[in-house]
Amino acid sequence: LAIVMHFYIIYQFIIKIMDKDRNSTFGKSPTTFPHFDAMDGDFLIGAIFPLHYTKHGDWFWSLCRFDPRAFRWSQALRFAVEEINYNQHLLPSIKLGYKIFDSCAYPLTGQRAALAVLNGPSEVYSSICSGSSPLLAVVGESGSAQSIIVSRVLQPFRIPMISYFSSCACFSDRREFPTFFRVIPNDDYQVKAIAQLLQHFGWTWVGVLNGDHAYGRFALQGLRKELVNTTVCIAYHVMIPLLYKREKALEILDVMRHSSARVVVAFSAEGELTPFLKEYMDQNITGIQWIASEAWVTASLFSGSQFYPYLGGTIGFGIRQGPVSGLREYLLTVNPLRYPNNPLVQELWGALYGCSLNPPSSISQNVTQLPACTGEEPIREQHSAYLNTSSFRVTYNVYKAVYAIAHSLHNLLSCELGKGPFQNSSCADTTNIYPWQVRTVKQYLQEVSFTISGETVNFDEKGDAIPSYDLINWQRGVAGNIEFVKVGMFDGSKDAGKELFIQDEAIMWTGHQREVPVSLCSDSCAAGNRKAFRRGEPLCCFDCVPCDSGKISNETDSVDCTPCPEDYWSNTARTECIPKAVEFLTHDAMGLTLTVISVVGACLTAAILLVFIRHRNTPIVRVNNSELSFFILLSLILCFLCALLFIGEPTVWSCMLRHTAFSITFSLCISCILGKTLVVLAAFTATRPGNNIMKWLGPKQQRVIIFACTLVQVLICSVWLIAAPPFPFKNTQYSRSKIILECSVGSDWAFWSVLGYIGLLACLCFVLAFLARKLPGNFNEAKYITFSMLIFCAVWLAFIPAYVSSPGKFTVAVEIFAILASSFGLLLCLFAPKCYIILLKPQKNTKEHYRVSAKVTGNSVKIQTSSVSTTHVLCDRCVVLLKSKLWPSGE
Ligand code: TRP
Repeated sequence: LAIVMHFYIIYQFIIKIMDKDRNSTFGKSPTTFPHFDAMDGDFLIGAIFPLHYTKHGDWFWSLCRFDPRAFRWSQALRFAVEEINYNQHLLPSIKLGYKIFDSCAYPLTGQRAALAVLNGPSEVYSSICSGSSPLLAVVGESGSAQSIIVSRVLQPFRIPMISYFSSCACFSDRREFPTFFRVIPNDDYQVKAIAQLLQHFGWTWVGVLNGDHAYGRFALQGLRKELVNTTVCIAYHVMIPLLYKREKALEILDVMRHSSARVVVAFSAEGELTPFLKEYMDQNITGIQWIASEAWVTASLFSGSQFYPYLGGTIGFGIRQGPVSGLREYLLTVNPLRYPNNPLVQELWGALYGCSLNPPSSISQNVTQLPACTGEEPIREQHSAYLNTSSFRVTYNVYKAVYAIAHSLHNLLSCELGKGPFQNSSCADTTNIYPWQVRTVKQYLQEVSFTISGETVNFDEKGDAIPSYDLINWQRGVAGNIEFVKVGMFDGSKDAGKELFIQDEAIMWTGHQREVPVSLCSDSCAAGNRKAFRRGEPLCCFDCVPCDSGKISNETDSVDCTPCPEDYWSNTARTECIPKAVEFLTHDAMGLTLTVISVVGACLTAAILLVFIRHRNTPIVRVNNSELSFFILLSLILCFLCALLFIGEPTVWSCMLRHTAFSITFSLCISCILGKTLVVLAAFTATRPGNNIMKWLGPKQQRVIIFACTLVQVLICSVWLIAAPPFPFKNTQYSRSKIILECSVGSDWAFWSVLGYIGLLACLCFVLAFLARKLPGNFNEAKYITFSMLIFCAVWLAFIPAYVSSPGKFTVAVEIFAILASSFGLLLCLFAPKCYIILLKPQKNTKEHYRVSAKVTGNSVKIQTSSVSTTHVLCDRCVVLLKSKLWPSGE
């Protein structure tokens, strides 16, 4: 029983399938398959149209839907044939016939249609075997996938085919498709146009959707190739499967929703897009800017008002429209009463009015019962799927294709004697043309050229048409429906870069917006930044990094920052190169402070000098060689003043003067101090009476010593100035952002020997003063000199590392500082105590105070000043001491 039950279930199942098949396009008996329409003639034109398309889901199990748009194309073919038959100039006295087959918009059924074109729908109609009229050429197919198969079927018979809608770039291979022609531009041009469109609107991050067929795959490949070396990147590309599956659609929609690419290019056709877009709308996804390929940009299927919120604003390149005068009226004449036997017309009525002309009882019960129609219903403008009033695009292509065939046949028949394509250049016998002779139609087609309403129709060597597209934008019509508005065009015959013309202001974008949507992976980088590409991500995704200092980028989205030329530097925004700041010590805060200090120093010295001059006769001034003191004060004034030479822009002269003046004045100053120390020391070191060392240190000799010491420095400086004088120098090395104007010393050796010489004098002075520091005397300067030299040496020793390491104008500042500090050190150490006594303690500044009494008792002598009292064993030195000029004479 179980087995019987099983068989029964299987039997029921098969019956069900067969029942379904009987109602479907595919399941009709051989005599009625595929839907066809035919007219006899001397020559036949085959035609294949996708008069039905499969409903979403499994094509085999479901019903085919009638496509009024394709029906219109078939009517255009009939119209063209009838027009040619009527035409007295084109193929006079020859009647063209046609046979139209349905491909069901599917490759497999397309193949059946191709075979049917060759053989006729049944044995009864078999054209080749029955010797009926020769088949000239085939107009077809629509989708590239079907056309490939149709072309392969027709190829062995060398029957040319002219496609009105197959734009796949794959057909350009003449070896593979030798008999293929088309009146639609190659997709290579379309992808070029789309790539230009993407760049025009700055969409650099786009998604691509393509159907799973030759058209979709080749278009994606072409677009990718076109986008290489452009700023546009493909964020994702997904394939809509041929057989619609909801899960897959949801997956795709998920990708779309989560990507930041707002622009999506779809190489697909209305058949497979319908269920997908339905799901898209169900998911309520908005904000996607669709870029439609030519296959669906003018699909009236989506022109209903319910699509506008989701698909409004769609833009894409449509096939160029053309006028077919009289076709509109012709289409209006089609009605079931006029063509009672044409099942397609009946189906048209069903599709347009939702009614059936056949009583429902005559067909299977499974068919949905439609209300009966009279057949007299008028075709109205609203039936846009059939009567697309605004323009004919694919329809116009069909029309052109028929004319191309007719013109070729015309040329074949009007073959000039002796110039024909057959053996010995003979022509075909016009009264008895064989089907095989018709094969040469291909040759004629290749060369055909004619004009339809101002447009020249011909084919290039690849069988392609001249590339030209209209840019179409989906805008809202008065009734809320979608209207296809032309907003620009692409003319492939123009020079590169000039092909695209867009009326930007006329475009309405997605979401009923006037602003161009943005589709970027990363926001563009402002000037002053450069793109830093992210590892492993497309070039359109990047971070913006500010340019390094010294480099600029003056335009947005620059990949690299350009380094500034020499002597120029980047501004803070890194947008332009500005001349480098030239830095030198000038009258800024630091320069001014130093100037003030040096002037104050000079004035102070001058004041002390004045005080000394005024009190030149007081003991304290006289006690220690006053002439030398005046010299020291004068040279100190010069020292203070020569600090001023270091301030201001270095020039050739100031550079030469700076170091030399400073070194000579300092040498002078230290020499004077040295002289002074020498005198003190010599006075105490003369050991024997009669030792006339003091004779050698008289005022004259002192001057000579000072002069000699200074002269050495003058000589070093002269050699320096002659051999390698200091010069102004632009130092760009130290800081990259500014030019430091400084004096190059010219010769380091000279510079350091000048300093070294001063150092040598100072050290000598220090050592001598150190030795003399404890010698008696009411006012022994030696300890002050020691101290001053200590300060002097300390300052200059500290100067060396500071000088070497301080940047820019600070080098000069450090040098000035050393000059001022050491000058002040000398000034204060040597003269402050004396000034103190002169000005504040005048009572100490008396002869008595400096009186020295020496009392000799036995062989010892007691020396007494106002502050010190010492007893010495009498010796020669005491005699010398008493004679010395260190004390006011006579004391
Ligand atoms: N230009 C498309 C093609 O060459 C047009 C087309 C028509 C189409 N019918 C189609 C594309 C069906 C995909 C599916 O194929």
